[in-house]
Amino acid sequence: MSRFVVEGSNRIDGKIRVQGSKNGVLPLLSASVLVSGESVFKGCPELTDVKAAINILTYLGCRAEQKDGVICVDSSGADKFTITEELMREMRSSVVFLGALLGRFGRAEMSAPGGCEIGLRPIDLHLEAMRALGAVIDETGGKLVCSCPQGLKGARISLSFPSVGATENILLAACTAKGETLLINAAREPEIIELADFLNACGAKISGAGESVIRVEGVDKLCPCEHSVWQDRIAATTYMSAAAVTGGRLELEMNRPSLLLPVIELFEKTGCVIDIKGSKINIKGASRLKKFGIIRTMPYPGFPTDSQADFAVMASVAQGTCTIVENIFENRFKYVSQLRKMGAQIRIENRVAVIEGVSRLSGANVVSPDLRGGSALVVAAMCADGITVVDDIYHIDRGYEKFEEQLKILGVKIKREE
Ligand code: EPZ
Repeated sequence: MSRFVVEGSNRIDGKIRVQGSKNGVLPLLSASVLVSGESVFKGCPELTDVKAAINILTYLGCRAEQKDGVICVDSSGADKFTITEELMREMRSSVVFLGALLGRFGRAEMSAPGGCEIGLRPIDLHLEAMRALGAVIDETGGKLVCSCPQGLKGARISLSFPSVGATENILLAACTAKGETLLINAAREPEIIELADFLNACGAKISGAGESVIRVEGVDKLCPCEHSVWQDRIAATTYMSAAAVTGGRLELEMNRPSLLLPVIELFEKTGCVIDIKGSKINIKGASRLKKFGIIRTMPYPGFPTDSQADFAVMASVAQGTCTIVENIFENRFKYVSQLRKMGAQIRIENRVAVIEGVSRLSGANVVSPDLRGGSALVVAAMCADGITVVDDIYHIDRGYEKFEEQLKILGVKIKREE
């Protein structure tokens, strides 16, 4: 297993360009199965999750390769609708291929994705929606065997929760279904808007993406096109939290800085100074962060659950007490036990974390419990006294491109050890 060794207590100072979005590119790669021909995606991040998605595309019979941030997918040769257990194990969010496989082949087989480090991750909303669109789904033995004998037909679907993945699967399945689909209580995350933009550029007729009601008029055929992947609003927040806790300075190059609006005000509440001009986001950390008070994670445009760990680290070294309520996933505080080893004063009661800020954290040996908890532990290590070793960093490699290289550019003393 590889690990990071981080020497703390130095201010970061520098400029980086924000990577392409992991949660944006994955549904786009699934969408490429729907369009017969070669789709080109520019600005893709090099991540193990992206590699896993490319492995799935290749297994399905597509020609898929990533070179210098560009992924070309020619799905004209796609001839399989099954995703093996091994491929599903590599990345549980492979369930996002379900809608595209049904749209392309009228069939889909995969093992149920199962839970992960942060929660059970049920897919009931996905399956209910696919059935509403005409799919027959057998779920026995942890396998999903789906078919739509009469083809997919538009339907009215109300989601009991604005699930991002379910919304993506519905758009993918509905855009070539017969007739119109009306989706109520859709997820409003930017990744939904980006997916709809790509599908519409391929000839789909989707309106209302980014709102709670989305209308899809089924079309017969989609033609491949080129797309520049939006940059990663979650990764950007992690890098900003590094400037915050080290009292450093950071300039991020990121189009659509408005995607960061759900977190900007909270950074400013802690005393950080943020200046946004065009695609340049400048943040200056405070010498000692002030408390931000309470955060509740919510569906977009509420505070993103994926940024919760970043703000817990900021709260750990802020003046005063902060509270974080995690409303989206049931097990997303696993990093807290590791932060406590570094001297953080955090109490957890169910989905509520109460964090008493301390003046300094101390280096320790910690283990990354999941993707966002892992990256947050590295940020904590940057402002801790002494050396911190972060183990199991394969979690971090899923979502942060060239993480230690980017941090070295910012002056962080970090090295990867195999
Ligand atoms: C996406 O996961 C993201 N992953 C997650 O990012 C992100 O945290 C999440 O959206 C919320 O923003 C990708 O895009 C690959 P959901 P997803 O369906 O689609 C419940 C990261 O760190 N639910 O909106 O799985 C579910 O249990 C990852 O990059 C059902 O009950 O999120 C959860 O409590 C982590 N039934 C809530 O909804 C369902 O059928 C939100 O899940 C589906 C979801």
